[in-house]
Amino acid sequence: MSKNFFGDSVTLNSGYTMPYLGFGTWTLDDDAAEDCVYFALKVGYRLIDTARYYRNEVGVGRGIRWAIQDGIATREEIFVTSKIMPGNSPDAAINAAIRDLNLNYVDLMLIHWSGYNDAEVYRALERGVKSGKIRSIGISNYSTPRAFDKIKNIATIVPAVIQNENHPYYQNENLQAYVKNFGTIIEAWYPFGGRGNTQKIFSDATIKMLAKKYSKSPAQIILRWQIQAGYVAIPGSSNKNHIAENFNIFDFSLAAEDMNLIRVLNKNRSFENW
Ligand SMILES: NC(=O)c1ccc[n+]([C@@H]2O[C@H](COP(=O)([O-])OP(=O)(O)OC[C@H]3O[C@@H](n4cnc5c(N)ncnc54)[C@H](OP(=O)(O)O)[C@@H]3O)[C@@H](O)[C@H]2O)c1
Repeated sequence: MSKNFFGDSVTLNSGYTMPYLGFGTWTLDDDAAEDCVYFALKVGYRLIDTARYYRNEVGVGRGIRWAIQDGIATREEIFVTSKIMPGNSPDAAINAAIRDLNLNYVDLMLIHWSGYNDAEVYRALERGVKSGKIRSIGISNYSTPRAFDKIKNIATIVPAVIQNENHPYYQNENLQAYVKNFGTIIEAWYPFGGRGNTQKIFSDATIKMLAKKYSKSPAQIILRWQIQAGYVAIPGSSNKNHIAENFNIFDFSLAAEDMNLIRVLNKNRSFENW
């Protein structure tokens, strides 16, 4: 693990480096995505998460190109993730994502969730790597070792990342321990439990106690716990104060006993039931 000004990063099994903290763009439309992505890059984020499903790749791409033009970061310094659906025509979906983002290549492309034809979709991602359109590939919403193995067993490129729901109440440590054997990293969506659930986690007595102890917000305590526990975290927000606050987690670290206090909050309780 290397340290840099923009926070910790992890070297993936693909050889590329991925920041531990990123900005999630689900629910942002093109205009909001452009504005918030630019702002996120300005305050220091270097990982941006989008998906075909979010219908905001055009805005995300605009925000990134705007930041590059303004000298905030180079393309090489920004790690861009998108996702394609399971189904037919995965090669066309990959091309459409790159066209909409207008960035020449994507750093990480994921299958958004398991489903019809996902082995073929994964093979399309592998072709994308071979042709230079994609640098690293992975999967999302594969929450058991068995689900991971389904893809790993047909893969010529082992998934670099699995993006799953993950927060203090749903830690799924067994999956993290299993996929570590293959150098695969877990990336956490819903780090705060997602819209409508955030107060359930922010008002947890342990999280509140730690926020007071470290003079940080509950959101900052949760994100710090996630990256110290080895997860990549991608909090989403449309509020610039929150976007900046969520990046301000590199000036403190949680003591081992406090990491453990959060570890024992796990209820294996998912907030999403898709
Ligand atoms: N692969 C998948 O299937 C999948 C599924 C869901 C999400 N994702 C990705 O993961 C990202 C994160 O998930 P999410 O955005 O749905 O949920 P989340 O990050 O757990 O929570 C977002 C909510 O937290 C609030 N929030 C953010 N920072 C805050 C702060 N510092 N203080 C108080 N409230 C704060 C936001 O409100 P404000 O807007 O008011 O800040 C919003 O209501 C998404 O944006 C997306 O990129 C992937």
